[in-house]
Amino acid sequence: MMMWPTLSLFVSTAVFPCLAQASSGGDYDFVIAGGGIAGLVLADRLSENPNHSVLLLEAGPDPTGDPLVSTPALSGQLWPSKYSWNFTVVPQTRLSGATPALHQGRVFGGGSGINFMAYCRGAKSVFDEWAEVSGIEDLAWDNIVQDFRNSANLYVPDPLPYEQPINTTVFSEDGPVFVSYDRPDRLSQLEPDFWNAWLNDPYQPAKTADLTDGTGIGLVKGGPHAVRNSNGTRSYAWTAYGYRAASKPNVKILHGSRVVKINFDTSDPASPRAVGVDYVAADDDTSPITTVTGNEVIVSAGAINSPRLLLLSGIGPQAHLSAVGVPLVKDSPEVGSNLRDHHMLATIFSVPPSIVTASSLSNSTVLSALEAEYHATAGGPLSEPGPQSSTFLTERVPDAVLRALDPGANMSYYLSLPADRPHLAYQYAGTSFLAEYAGAEYNAATAFVALVQPEASGTVRLSSASYRDAPLIDSRYFGSDADYAVARYGLGRLLGVTRSARVGVRELFPGPNRTEAQVFRDIAQTFHHPVGTVALGRALDSGFRVKGVGGLRVVDSSAFPAITTCHTHASVYALAEVAARVIGGEDKRRARGRKEGGL
Ligand SMILES: Cc1cc2nc3c(=O)[nH]c(=O)nc-3n(C[C@H](O)[C@H](O)[C@H](O)COP(=O)(O)OP(=O)(O)OC[C@H]3O[C@@H](n4cnc5c(N)ncnc54)[C@H](O)[C@@H]3O)c2cc1C
Ligand SMILES: *[C@@H]1O[C@H](CO)[C@@H](O)[C@H](O)[C@H]1NC(C)=O
Ligand SMILES: *[C@@H]1O[C@H](CO)[C@@H](O)[C@H](O)[C@H]1NC(C)=O
Ligand SMILES: *[C@@H]1O[C@H](CO)[C@@H](O)[C@H](O)[C@H]1NC(C)=O
Ligand SMILES: *[C@@H]1O[C@H](CO)[C@@H](O)[C@H](O)[C@H]1NC(C)=O
Ligand SMILES: *[C@@H]1O[C@H](CO)[C@@H](O)[C@H](O)[C@H]1NC(C)=O
Ligand SMILES: *[C@@H]1O[C@H](CO)[C@@H](O)[C@H](O)[C@H]1NC(C)=O
Ligand SMILES: *[C@@H]1O[C@H](CO)[C@@H](O)[C@H](O)[C@H]1NC(C)=O
Repeated sequence: MMMWPTLSLFVSTAVFPCLAQASSGGDYDFVIAGGGIAGLVLADRLSENPNHSVLLLEAGPDPTGDPLVSTPALSGQLWPSKYSWNFTVVPQTRLSGATPALHQGRVFGGGSGINFMAYCRGAKSVFDEWAEVSGIEDLAWDNIVQDFRNSANLYVPDPLPYEQPINTTVFSEDGPVFVSYDRPDRLSQLEPDFWNAWLNDPYQPAKTADLTDGTGIGLVKGGPHAVRNSNGTRSYAWTAYGYRAASKPNVKILHGSRVVKINFDTSDPASPRAVGVDYVAADDDTSPITTVTGNEVIVSAGAINSPRLLLLSGIGPQAHLSAVGVPLVKDSPEVGSNLRDHHMLATIFSVPPSIVTASSLSNSTVLSALEAEYHATAGGPLSEPGPQSSTFLTERVPDAVLRALDPGANMSYYLSLPADRPHLAYQYAGTSFLAEYAGAEYNAATAFVALVQPEASGTVRLSSASYRDAPLIDSRYFGSDADYAVARYGLGRLLGVTRSARVGVRELFPGPNRTEAQVFRDIAQTFHHPVGTVALGRALDSGFRVKGVGGLRVVDSSAFPAITTCHTHASVYALAEVAARVIGGEDKRRARGRKEGGL
């Protein structure tokens, strides 16, 4: 018989259907830590085999029914919020010691529940690199495109109110994530100004492209966003995969349940094996620990919390674990290294009063008019993420320009990136990225530029052996001389375009009087795209297993061997689809082996 752990704290009085019995020993076949994008895809796909029992533990709340999460324009209010982890990075040398925030979702759906919903896949050579580094052929673009297709469907308004190439072959009718290009009533009013400025730029004019079909470089109009067209709501991992998984008899999904430790069988110290996890009620400091066992533990806690949980459990660099007093289970030097992110600089400007910004939403007269429109038509500014955030473009800096940027900097890395990869991405949002310009009197918007293929990589480390203490995240803003030089160039180019094209009516930041060091210190922020901290090929083998440890896999953005050239979330769905096949296929082989071997 299945053994149920005592869950009275988390499960109220719900009666759970009888689960398929785990195929050996543990309470479940799979215990998944984290109900973000990857965790929910895995719970859904692994449970397609009715013989698999799955338990998924998510630290954050269930947001079902909360309009803050479902209404795209309110996304800017979600970080910080009860749905975010509120991390900051350690003081950054290139930012005169500033410590920018690094938010991560803490809710069913993870980042997909709080993000800006920009939907992009980027350069195919990144996925080919993933395949090469990991030895997983299914990650190569020509293969993973099938997983991208299976994970998402596409809405294109007819007629399309702007000129934009759209390659519909890379989506499918029944992909569970809803992706939409903006229809006219959702098109941000800032958008034509912004795209025209780039398309008509005399220096390096942009060209439109579809950045979801393997193309790396170009300008995209009208989104696309992970928005469900029919009711103008956020389409995210909880609605796309989570609901479906939760309705199955062989899946159990708990929220408010934070995994604090992975447990191991260390009877053979040379090859420890994960046997389950300890978890607590996430929002109760006095919560007792519940222990649950599983034949496999899959960590899908995101690019900060996955390495953090491994480190807390004794899997990581030996010297670091000993310094913070965590007993070593396996010396795994690559856990927590190779952190990459998309770091940005920005300009903030006032826009005409007719343009809806985050500050206009704080005016209750304006908000109720927009709500009425939204409820009547599923459209208007509230159905647009940000609010008002669409057009973005990626750009490769010409070789000659790179060579001339900073004679002291080694540009080899930038020059040697495959030709389909951009170096910079530009975007805007109808909100002020600095609190001091968020007031209604400014009606501010922000245009930003990020390094999308940074050279420098950073680390995630523990500050102590306690799961309660914040981790030490050093994401190394503009960390190499080349990164710094390209970031300066990007900011100069962004200002050149926004100033000459008069996007907006008045520049609020940086303005004429700030030094470069002040600008970097005050405005540098992140797209919140951390990846790579438990990377395939480094910390993980081609089965997504932590090298040298049995029964333990990591599947999420921390497994990315290289950072994508644009927003990361679409690629997490596809990676998890591939992983589910790898894991499910192995399980089938194992089951067969068991039968044949008479086990
Ligand atoms: C503010 C913000 C804006 C973004 N904007 C965009 C955008 O516009 N477009 C885009 O493509 N991408 C965007 N991203 C990035 C994207 O959302 C992430 O890359 C993606 O969500 C990562 O997926 P994941 O499965 O690796 O981890 P996540 O989605 O972060 O999921 C991890 C989950 O694990 C849970 N968890 C963590 N630790 C534990 C634990 N110990 N026990 C139990 N549960 C735990 C977390 O609460 C979380 O729900 C944004 C992210 C953020 C945070
Ligand atoms: C489930 O297990 C049963 C009994 O071992 C087996 O006959 C069946 O093929 C399995 N189903 C799948 C989908 O693996
Ligand atoms: C993040 O900050 C918000 C707002 O201050 C708060 O409500 C929430 O509890 C914080 N999250 C965590 C995990 O502490
Ligand atoms: C659409 O995308 C697919 C997948 O990358 C590609 O093979 C095809 O050439 C693209 N079509 C066009 C018209 O660009
Ligand atoms: C949006 O529509 C879908 C499909 O009808 C529905 O399941 C979902 O609950 C709706 N979302 C909201 C917030 O109304
Ligand atoms: C809110 O917006 C309305 C309509 O644009 C305007 O008349 C009013 O002055 C605004 N209120 C405040 C407090 O700014
Ligand atoms: C420049 O960087 C590359 C790595 O990108 C390295 O191989 C090379 O040795 C460096 N050159 C110098 C002169 O430091
Ligand atoms: C910048 O400095 C000059 C000279 O001190 C001053 O006249 C001007 O008002 C300042 N501009 C802003 C926007 O602060």
